Formats: sequence, C-alpha cells, structure tokens
Amino acid sequence: MALNTYFVDREEEISTILGFIKARANVLIYGLRGIGKTTLLEKVHDILIHEGRKVLYIDGYEILSPEDLFVISRRTPIMDARDSVRCIFEMLDHVIIIDEFTSLIQMLARYRPFGNVEDVVKYIRSQTQLRRKRGGESIIISSSALGFIKRATMKYFAPLFREFKLLFIGPMSFEAIYELAIKHGIKEEEAREIAELSTGNPFYARKIIEQVIAQGISPREALFKLIESKGDLDIYFTALMENLQAEERYILHLIARGRNRFYEIEEKLYKDPSPYLKRLEDNGLVLKIKKTRKFSQYIIPDKVFQAWLLSQEIPSLGKISREAIYVSSLGFEALVRELLRSITSVIKIRDWLGQSLELPPFRAVYNVSGHDYEIDAVGLRNNEAYVFEIHFWGKARYNKVLQLIKNAELFAKDYGKRIKEKVLISYFGYELTNKEKEKIKEQGIKLLTSKELREIQKKTGVKLGF
Ligand SMILES: Nc1ncnc2c1ncn2[C@@H]1O[C@H](COP(=O)(O)OP(=O)(O)OP(=O)(O)O)[C@@H](O)[C@H]1O
Ligand SMILES: [Mg+2]
Repeated sequence: MALNTYFVDREEEISTILGFIKARANVLIYGLRGIGKTTLLEKVHDILIHEGRKVLYIDGYEILSPEDLFVISRRTPIMDARDSVRCIFEMLDHVIIIDEFTSLIQMLARYRPFGNVEDVVKYIRSQTQLRRKRGGESIIISSSALGFIKRATMKYFAPLFREFKLLFIGPMSFEAIYELAIKHGIKEEEAREIAELSTGNPFYARKIIEQVIAQGISPREALFKLIESKGDLDIYFTALMENLQAEERYILHLIARGRNRFYEIEEKLYKDPSPYLKRLEDNGLVLKIKKTRKFSQYIIPDKVFQAWLLSQEIPSLGKISREAIYVSSLGFEALVRELLRSITSVIKIRDWLGQSLELPPFRAVYNVSGHDYEIDAVGLRNNEAYVFEIHFWGKARYNKVLQLIKNAELFAKDYGKRIKEKVLISYFGYELTNKEKEKIKEQGIKLLTSKELREIQKKTGVKLGF
C-alpha cells in the first residue's frame, strides 16, 4: 500500500540549503539511511523549479553508465568517461543536485580513462573548481555512506570535500513524526506512540503508519510485526547485516544486549575488537561514548535496529521476550536512559521552572524494580544517586511529583544511597498550580520537558531523536 507523500519538518535544513545556493556554495548532505535525504533534495528541487530556476536533478542509483550522463545533458556521447562528467559540470546556469553521489563515483571508476575512485574524485574536484571560477550555480550532493564520508573527508578525498559545505541530516523531532501520523488520519494517542517508537526516523514512521492503517493494529504490534521474520524491517536489517563481517554482527548483538563496555566486548569476542568497532562507528551503526580517558562505552543510536537485534536468537546469547525488548530499547523511558548514559562531562541547564540543574557523567544508569515500586531511571555517581521519574503521555500533574518523592525515599532506604537530585521528566510539559510550583521549588525537585531534553541532547552531541 502506498501512502500519501506528506512532507513535514526540515524547515531549518531547507533554508540552510537555499542559503548556500544563494551564495553559490556547494553542499554535501549526509545522514543515515532512511533519514530523509532524498525527500529533502526533491523538496529543494521543487522549490527551485517553482522559483523559475534551472535545475538538473540526478539520481546516482539510476545512472548506470557514462552514456546516461550524456543523455541527461543532451550531448553527443564520446568514448571518454571524463567528458560525461565535464558536460554536466559545464551546465553553469543549472543548480546541479546529485542524490547518492557515491554510487555515481563508483560507477565512473570502472570506466576509462579512470581506473579507480581516486581518479574520479580528483577529476571531479578540478571540474568543481573550474565551475566555481566560472561562476557556476551550486552543486548539491548527498550520501548515506557515513563511513565513506568520514574517511573521505580525511585522506585523498579531503581536497574534494573542501569544495563542499557539509550538512548532516539527523532524526526529526517527535512532534514532526506525530504531525505526519496525524496527517495520515491516525488517532492522537497512537500518533504519539508512533513518534515514540520511530525515534525521529521518517522511514520507520511510515512503515508503522502503513501497518497500523492496513491491519488495524496498535503501533507497538505493528512495529513487532515489521521486525519479526520476513517483516519489511526484518528484510531491511538482514540486508544491512549481510554487508558486515561476522565479528561486527556479533559485536552489535552484544552491545544491543547491554554488554557495551570495551572490556566486556573484548572478553566475549576472544580478540581485539578495535578494528571492528571502528568500522561500526564509521558506518554510524554504533556510537562511542568516552566516559573517561580509559573508559569507553558503546551504544546503538538506532533503537528500532536495536530492537531487531534483540529479537534475533543468538545461540550464545539466548532469546529475549518482547516485553524486555520494549523496556530496554523502544519506549521513551529507554531513550531517556540512553540520553543520560551519553553524558560525558557535567551539563548545566535551567529546568522548566528556571532552577539550575547539573547532570554529571554517570557511572551507571538503569531502571529499578523493587517489590512494590518501579523507578524509571537512576543515575549513579560515586555514592550519590539521581532519581528520575519519566512521563510521556500528556502533561504531568502533581501526583507525578509525589510519586517521584516516594520512589526516591524507597530507593535511598533499600540501596543505602544519598539522593543528590530528584528529577521529573515530562515530554509534553506540566499542568501545575502556582502553589504546587512553589512547593516543588521548596523541595528542590527539578522539572524537565522536551525542550530541556533537546538541550541536553545538543550538549552530548548524541542524536537520539526527541
Ligand atoms: N520531511 C519528510 N516528511 C515526511 N516524510 C518523509 C520526510 N522525509 C522522509 N520522509 C519519508 O521517509 C522515508 C525515507 O526517506 P528518504 O528516502 O528521503 O530517505 P533517505 O535518507 O534518502 O534514505 P536512503 O539513504 O535509503 O536513500 C520515505 O518514505 C519518505 O517519504
Ligand atoms: Mg535516498
């Protein structure tokens, strides 16, 4: 079933790109698969056409030979792959947009007189410079090969990419995904759940929306259907894994299951995991969180991918229940815990009431279930504990504050820790009387909303999508 192509969010990215085009700067757009690069480029294309500009749009995946380039530039083919590039770059009055640019480079590398990727890159660089000198319009290119971009901006690719401004496309906000779901006629509550589950990834969001509409099931059921054997996302992730080495796949499973410190991975792998971890980082599949100089932890930023990894049965790692998968990876609470884990130096912010709050790098962050209480997140720092109560469904009221106070007391008693901070997190804000607000301040309780979470996320540099 095909969904309507509603477009949401990305105003900031669009205006950045249009600004670059105005200044005739070249741009390289990069970001994970499915994050919305193609959609963004198409939108920019439409805007430019609407303004009456000349645009040449090239889909790198559809250019299968140099001859295809001659055809779109309406030139007569010559037996030289260089000319196929030149005839495009000589269209000075056109803004040139090339989606999946890396695919184009790899194709050209197989034709004479090029012999390898380096030759192509060198030639494109000289053509880019020439075009700039002649006052040509911008070239906008995209790539999802994050590892490639990272390596490319070093080594011999560096000179080419110095000709380009780099623009990273990250996850969308929960609000944007919520809006997308609402536009498709999904009910409010379910729309919120879709935002929560897809963590800012429009590709996952669309897949879930599709399932919810077609099968009349809940978003959570829909996601589990998508990741179970032969589901759309199972097929997608299986293909992704096929491009990895067995060691890399094993490491991903370990990290997904919480064995995410370097020594824990080393112990399980029976050999030095460094080169594999580096490649996984390069591909954007894994993020390294440097806690101290000697101490690193790894996380999988894509929570849907993590959920799929957890649903795979690995002989030495066993089977995990759906409920456990949900708790450890998918819910809003799981995301907040991951955000708290990703803090590497003291973060100072003002809470919703304007009080100042400092969050340190925690030694550990986990959820606690006592026999008669549950705590969404506890962060440990030396012998002190930070207790968090996390709320996602609508505005939080004073009863959440009371619950937080009670939980903190029980935890202090059961675990013999001093409570340093009590923090209530409510994504959609609060509904509190002035009197209640005063009481909260007196008790030194801190309140956070999506705005503060985003601020923390910005400071950690780890994009989880809020
Ligand atoms: N701004 C947006 N508004 C609504 N839907 C979007 C938006 N951006 C992307 N999508 C949807 O998300 C899905 C993935 O987007 P897109 O194909 O643009 O991602 P991509 O980054 O180009 O992925 P790939 O690396 O696989 O090419 C598509 O179904 C698209 O319709
Ligand atoms: Mg694309």
